[in-house]
Amino acid sequence: MAFQEPHRDCDRCPRLRAFLLEKREELPSYYNAPVPSFGDPEPRLLIVGLAPGMHGANQTGRPFTGDWAGDLLYAALAEYGFSEGTYSGTADDGLTLKGAMITNAVRCVPPQNKPVGAECAACRPFLTEQIESLTSVKAILCLGKISHDNTVRAMGLKLSAYPFGHHKIHKLQGDRRLYSSYHCSRYNTNTKRLTEEMFYKVFADIRGYIDG
Ligand code: URA
Repeated sequence: MAFQEPHRDCDRCPRLRAFLLEKREELPSYYNAPVPSFGDPEPRLLIVGLAPGMHGANQTGRPFTGDWAGDLLYAALAEYGFSEGTYSGTADDGLTLKGAMITNAVRCVPPQNKPVGAECAACRPFLTEQIESLTSVKAILCLGKISHDNTVRAMGLKLSAYPFGHHKIHKLQGDRRLYSSYHCSRYNTNTKRLTEEMFYKVFADIRGYIDG
């Protein structure tokens, strides 16, 4: 069963809707709509980010594309055999994902990159349906605590039983696993909270698990 992406004019979150309408006036060349998932329609790995960045995914219409965070994420995907082609920060770069799909916990750009709890909750049914319908998925990788917590809730699980931690791995139903990483944001990489080595180790584990 295919999952639904939010409609371009989704109005579940009044604040985000108003923000997007403002941006459509201010930045008419930008995508300025809920950013759809990108990647293999039958992924083994589902990556869940936080929300589109204003001048990255919200501009290009593809998750993490044109964002600082995308440079590290797409490099890791290439390194571990999850992509084909060259990422160049635009949605028409011809890059395809192999066995991976990228989505966001909140699909519209939020002011200051910070969705509020009600917005996370309003967008969550899209993630629930996506996780349920993508039966090929063996590994879910959450980038950052907000993504992790939303993903756990989207699966109807208790946060106390599935706490967030960098490179933490939780077993899910069947042979699925939930992996978490610090978000590959500019702040986290500049402060060295997350290094390329730390990030790549998570991907190495996922690759091993998927292929094992
Ligand atoms: N771009 C996205 O699409 N998601 C994030 O979490 C960060 C940047």
